[in-house]
Amino acid sequence: MKTEVLEVTEKSDSILERAAELIRSGALVGIPTETVYGLGANAYNRDACLNIFKAKGRPADNPLIVHIARPEDAENIAYTNALYYKLAVRFMPGPLTVILPKKDIIPDSVTAGLDTVAIRCPANPVANRLIEIAGVPIAAPSANKSGMPSPTSAVHVYNDMNGEIPMILDGGECEVGVESTVISITDDSIMLLRPGQVTVEMLSEVCENVSVSSAVIEELKPGEKALSPGMKYKHYAPVANLYLVNGEYIDFVSFTKEKSTKEKCAVMCYDEEIALYEKEILLPVGKKDDIKEQTKRLFNLLRKADELGVQTIYAHLPKKEGAALAIYNRMIRACAHRILGGENG
Ligand code: TXA
Ligand code: MG
Repeated sequence: MKTEVLEVTEKSDSILERAAELIRSGALVGIPTETVYGLGANAYNRDACLNIFKAKGRPADNPLIVHIARPEDAENIAYTNALYYKLAVRFMPGPLTVILPKKDIIPDSVTAGLDTVAIRCPANPVANRLIEIAGVPIAAPSANKSGMPSPTSAVHVYNDMNGEIPMILDGGECEVGVESTVISITDDSIMLLRPGQVTVEMLSEVCENVSVSSAVIEELKPGEKALSPGMKYKHYAPVANLYLVNGEYIDFVSFTKEKSTKEKCAVMCYDEEIALYEKEILLPVGKKDDIKEQTKRLFNLLRKADELGVQTIYAHLPKKEGAALAIYNRMIRACAHRILGGENG
């Protein structure tokens, strides 16, 4: 299959019409969103959604997120409550995914047999317009091969999906850079299953009772059941071995300079540290306190490291607070919990 890559804005009516027709007819389309690129299919079409799992090489027990154009469209596919609409007023459209009890219209191939469905209303105007034109909700996981870093540009999608899908919509680089915040809710409580740009602190402004699933920062214990199936897989991982360095206990710059003399490694340093290096391979992550920029660059840099063919990547151990929790969560998965200097020294 030839894969077409088409540059789009929300005003590219004829291209979006073609993409919508592909979705309606059961094909898969690469779609820009504000978080990461998605691999979209008609959420009402069982076989189309099964094809997502094939194209990604995704384990069958890891359910998909269903994307809708307006928060109230959740009524077609799930049983909502008042808390859902409070969250919608504050965060939708935007990078928040809410898990709700599903209605029968959503096939099991979307939810991997669970009786809940994950719902997200994307803010990216191309994604939002496409869903509107398609007239059906769009099931879309991140458009990477399973286990690889999520794609934040159309080129990343092309590298992973070339020949397997008919169309990729190129809407430019993703604004956020990591996947949406995933929460499950009851009438009066929220449980964070995957951290993203919508933080615990922000959710706490809408609901008093917010808890964080232990899988967000820890490894699952043997035999422990993941509340969000995606949490149990090694994830976001480059081919190179990633190590996180706890800079409170190890001097990051001298440690990585020393390593660079002995092995072909890349160093994910802060922008302020660039001048301290000489001929080492650097992947600057952004300024030390610029969590937004660090989030935006993260997956692109992990992919770059592989393009450079390095065996090892060294990076600062991220903080766990606020928006940095999303970076921490992705990086501990990408490094399979290899932390030098230890989490607590
Ligand atoms: O930002 C995003 O959320 C992107 C863009 C494309 O929207 N999508 C994305 O999808 O990251 P994916 O499939 O890579 O991650 C979906 C996560 C997985 O960890 C999955 O286990 C969880 O959401 N999930 C989906 N449905 C669920 C459900 N019913 N219960 C619990 N977790 C669920
Ligand atoms: Mg994913």
